[in-house]
Amino acid sequence: MSQIDEKSPQHCAKKKVINISKHKKKLIYTFTTFILSILLLILLVWLILHPAKPEFALKEADIYQLTLSGARLLNSSIQITLVSNNPNQKVGIYYDEIQVYASYKGQRITLDSSIPPFYQEQKDHNLLSMVLVANGLAVDPSFSYEMGRDQMVGRLVLEVKSNGHLRWKVGTWVSGRYMFIVNCVVVLPFGAAAPAGPLTSKQGARCLTTV
Ligand SMILES: *[C@@H]1O[C@H](CO)[C@@H](O)[C@H](O)[C@H]1NC(C)=O
Repeated sequence: MSQIDEKSPQHCAKKKVINISKHKKKLIYTFTTFILSILLLILLVWLILHPAKPEFALKEADIYQLTLSGARLLNSSIQITLVSNNPNQKVGIYYDEIQVYASYKGQRITLDSSIPPFYQEQKDHNLLSMVLVANGLAVDPSFSYEMGRDQMVGRLVLEVKSNGHLRWKVGTWVSGRYMFIVNCVVVLPFGAAAPAGPLTSKQGARCLTTV
């Protein structure tokens, strides 16, 4: 016959509760440690590979048309060439979608032009050429005044803006989608100093990329 040590049923119940909570604590501890180790591992891999932002540069910009019909309907045609560069040694980049448009004095002067998706190898670069256009795009009434002023000054500051989504590729692993934004600022000779024909950038411009 086994001896009963417990003094009362109440005490017995108390002991059982303590045992369960101890077991639970251990489980939670093990689980937390496991999750933390996995997070640490991901962080470590990420830090070692450390994907750098893709680099963009505006190689050339030519304005073929920038004319107003009436006071505020704009027709524009701007050819641009962007250079896209992947500076990473171990990370490839999938560009899922890229939209590009031109902006002048903080307002849009062309519609979006999309670039078909492409994959960029490590340490690779691509030339992206496109024509940005608008037909009868409504602009602010100040547009004509601003253009006149720039023509007198002899230069025009054009912004080429881009946004899209990319995914990193490391070995066979592919990351989720990250949004990126590119902003290029280029100065074009304009007015009396500019030669006949399209307004052409004399030199390219580096662009600012945010991922
Ligand atoms: C702008 O484009 C529209 C449509 O193509 C055309 O009817 C209009 O004449 C153009 N305006 C100018 C100033 O080129």
